[in-house]
Amino acid sequence: VFENPKSASINVAHRIANIIRKKQAENTFAVLGLATGVTPIAVYNELVRLHKEEGLSFKNVITFNLDEYYPMLPNASQSYVTFMNENLFDHIDIEKENIHIPDGTLPLEDIPDFCLNYEKKIAELGGLDIQILGIGRTGHIGFNEPGSAPNSGTRLVTLDDLTRRDAAKDFGGKSFVPTKAITMGIGTIFKAKEIILMAWSRKKASIIKKAVEGKISGKVPATYLQLSNNVEFILDQPAASELT
Ligand code: F6R
Repeated sequence: VFENPKSASINVAHRIANIIRKKQAENTFAVLGLATGVTPIAVYNELVRLHKEEGLSFKNVITFNLDEYYPMLPNASQSYVTFMNENLFDHIDIEKENIHIPDGTLPLEDIPDFCLNYEKKIAELGGLDIQILGIGRTGHIGFNEPGSAPNSGTRLVTLDDLTRRDAAKDFGGKSFVPTKAITMGIGTIFKAKEIILMAWSRKKASIIKKAVEGKISGKVPATYLQLSNNVEFILDQPAASELT
């Protein structure tokens, strides 16, 4: 539990930077699992600062994002492609071909193959070195909404009504929020060597209490993280305020 989101985010960014530097020393790639949303923005800001001011290179970095709305054009202002470009990729020296984000433009029938291939690419690279996560008020990680299975893989899912309400302001109303998304599964996330879930503010306190101290259940998918030995929750004091 950190005093504020900024100090926590700097800590997470430095851990990611350490993985990147260690892999550089070993002449290999760092494979990062990334999230969008408000929560990781300060982490990305610090990574950009490390690149610009301290010469951290991302040439040996391969990224896989957790999710994308479906359908979604990559150049739409609400797309996670746009989010990642604006908050991270446009400001660092990552190779464009090393960036992976689920494709919101696929015809429906091509989605299963795309998802299997997403899993395969991660596996062929030796798995994710680190996966960062936020948490939705439904208890979702990625877009694994209530009802998701602990061994689920990358797939097309239906968004929970609460998730669509929370996204309404970005889309100018809930009716404009897509009803579906492509997301890595709980099983995909679980295979990462380290998992860091971040949450800031009082708004996340009750779901954090359920995720950390509640009964493990598909009703709150983040509770599955209780079964992992490689997970850490990084919180600010308000988000941790309901923990006993
Ligand atoms: C985003 C994602 C979601 C968000 C969650 C919290 O890629 O997978 O699980 O992490 O909805 O969103 P924010 O950070 O906006 O509160």
